[in-house]
Amino acid sequence: MHPTANQIRRQFIDFFVKKYGHKEIPSASLIPENDPTVLFTTAGMHPLVPYLIGESHPAGKRLANAQKCVRTDDIDEVGDTTHLTFFEMLGNWSLGDYFKEEAIKSSFELLTLPWERGGFGLDKTKIAISCFKGDSDAPCDKESAEIWKSLGIPDERIAFLPKKNNWWGPAGQTGPCGPDTEMFYWTPPNDAPKNFDSDDGKWVEIWNDVFMQYNKKPDGTFEPLKQKNVDTGLGLERLVAILHGKPSHYETELFAPAMEKIKELSRVGREIESGYIRSSRIIAD
Ligand code: SER
Repeated sequence: MHPTANQIRRQFIDFFVKKYGHKEIPSASLIPENDPTVLFTTAGMHPLVPYLIGESHPAGKRLANAQKCVRTDDIDEVGDTTHLTFFEMLGNWSLGDYFKEEAIKSSFELLTLPWERGGFGLDKTKIAISCFKGDSDAPCDKESAEIWKSLGIPDERIAFLPKKNNWWGPAGQTGPCGPDTEMFYWTPPNDAPKNFDSDDGKWVEIWNDVFMQYNKKPDGTFEPLKQKNVDTGLGLERLVAILHGKPSHYETELFAPAMEKIKELSRVGREIESGYIRSSRIIAD
């Protein structure tokens, strides 16, 4: 039996709460408060911006949550097997507390520990990684790559990619942002290829660890934030599809019952049904 989506969400939060002293915080509203620059909460970081720039959070420096998001940026990709409009982003947060080493090690631990020991039991031979390649705003993130290598991820499974792929934020035009390292999982049932190809959609991005350490200024330049933060985002629906061995999130328990009901109530569903009855009668006659 597979764990349910509710159990998977709980496993994520409990891992960080029980093992690494994070406080669970509720999801913020999908409609952002006090932010006229966006219509919806688009990412886990969005409601936490004040705390990433130094305001102290009432629950402390280590937080974990499941944030409801509508990712308007993804609209053109919605309808494939991995992109949704509305989804839940599981996140652990360090507000000026731990940084790269602890973030990456705990991500790897949670992904690969067996379920009974508090993890998701993913196969580490099917994991690949991307790190920020560096540009004139920020250096190449060799440090993250070294940490991944120390955990057993081979060189050929680590790609260095530009800002377009491996940089997060700011949520609007200015504010906290930084390079990230992303975790990909080989979704087909066969062995993963030796080399990681980030353009091959069978490698699905499941989680990112963002190192929010810069502030983007109105003139487009970057300055260091006064604290170094970690913001991670693991897509619940993608993880459920992987743990349930389904090729698409629409085939998981999160969507399949609703899709079935729509089919049943819709004209298309009834036509399929009556077509089936007609043809079975013909066969029976
Ligand atoms: N890690 C976050 C996300 O991917 C950014 O807040 O949504």
